[in-house]
Amino acid sequence: MKNMSGSPAVRTEALNVWLGGTHAVCDVTVAFVEGATSGLVGPNGAGKSTLLNCISGLVPAGSGEVYLYGDKATGIRPHQLARLRIGRSYQGAQLVGELSAVDNVMVGDHVGLRTGLVAAALSLPKARRAERAARERAAHALDRVGLARYAHRPVKELPYGIQKRVDLARALVSDPRCILLDEPMAGLSRAEKEEVVEVLAGLRVAGGPTLVVVEHDMRVINQLCSYVVVLAAGAVLAAGPPETVLNSPEVVAAYIGRGDSHSEEQVGSE
Ligand SMILES: Nc1ncnc2c1ncn2[C@@H]1O[C@H](COP(=O)(O)OP(=O)(O)O)[C@@H](O)[C@H]1O
Ligand SMILES: [Mg+2]
Repeated sequence: MKNMSGSPAVRTEALNVWLGGTHAVCDVTVAFVEGATSGLVGPNGAGKSTLLNCISGLVPAGSGEVYLYGDKATGIRPHQLARLRIGRSYQGAQLVGELSAVDNVMVGDHVGLRTGLVAAALSLPKARRAERAARERAAHALDRVGLARYAHRPVKELPYGIQKRVDLARALVSDPRCILLDEPMAGLSRAEKEEVVEVLAGLRVAGGPTLVVVEHDMRVINQLCSYVVVLAAGAVLAAGPPETVLNSPEVVAAYIGRGDSHSEEQVGSE
């Protein structure tokens, strides 16, 4: 098991985030080990998205620290995140409906954006080559998530389950070494989830990216993750291997107590 043995890709220390009057992240100290797939779970409103948003510099930390690959990265800017090769997906897939799948994926390609698309507007031959290369990377990312045949379809014509995978391709396109995925399977059917699980499992080759996945379906967490962090009311309730953590009475109580409509699988059941 590679859970807590390696060095962390992402680590927080006594992190606190306030959103308006809400203490959304309370004293959170967590570590996500490099190369592993970790789960981030907890009832709605537990602070999962806010934790990922603070790690990626989208909301400021009230106090505490974020470390990325060992370096202090509290309050990092989005372009710095790209330079560290850390990718993100968001809870609601933010795709542009009128654009094709491949164009949407190109938007996630920081290399392509910097050296390709902008300069391509000037129609320089070098820029055109760069744009072609960015387009090829986007096509390759779509292929990795099994969507090669949808590359040129406008995203608004594609079913929701396919759109979620376009969003996943967008997180993959710049070849990140770590990807923070906020509910990549939300709203998917069981069959569609299986496809995403397969894609994510396929990334776990040697040297593959570190994955941090927010997900409500405990069957998926058990299948994919070697480590899981449970948040409740902004604080870490439990952390460790899924087989121990998800069966602990506190964790079971946190879910049942909230009657969380999102948790399709009751914690601890099989
Ligand atoms: N923009 C915001 N302003 C004020 N409170 C917010 C905002 N976004 C989220 N919250 C609150 O912060 C807490 C954590 O939310 P969130 O991180 O979205 O939880 P999760 O992703 O686990 O469902 C919740 O109580 C939520 O209502
Ligand atoms: Mg959320």
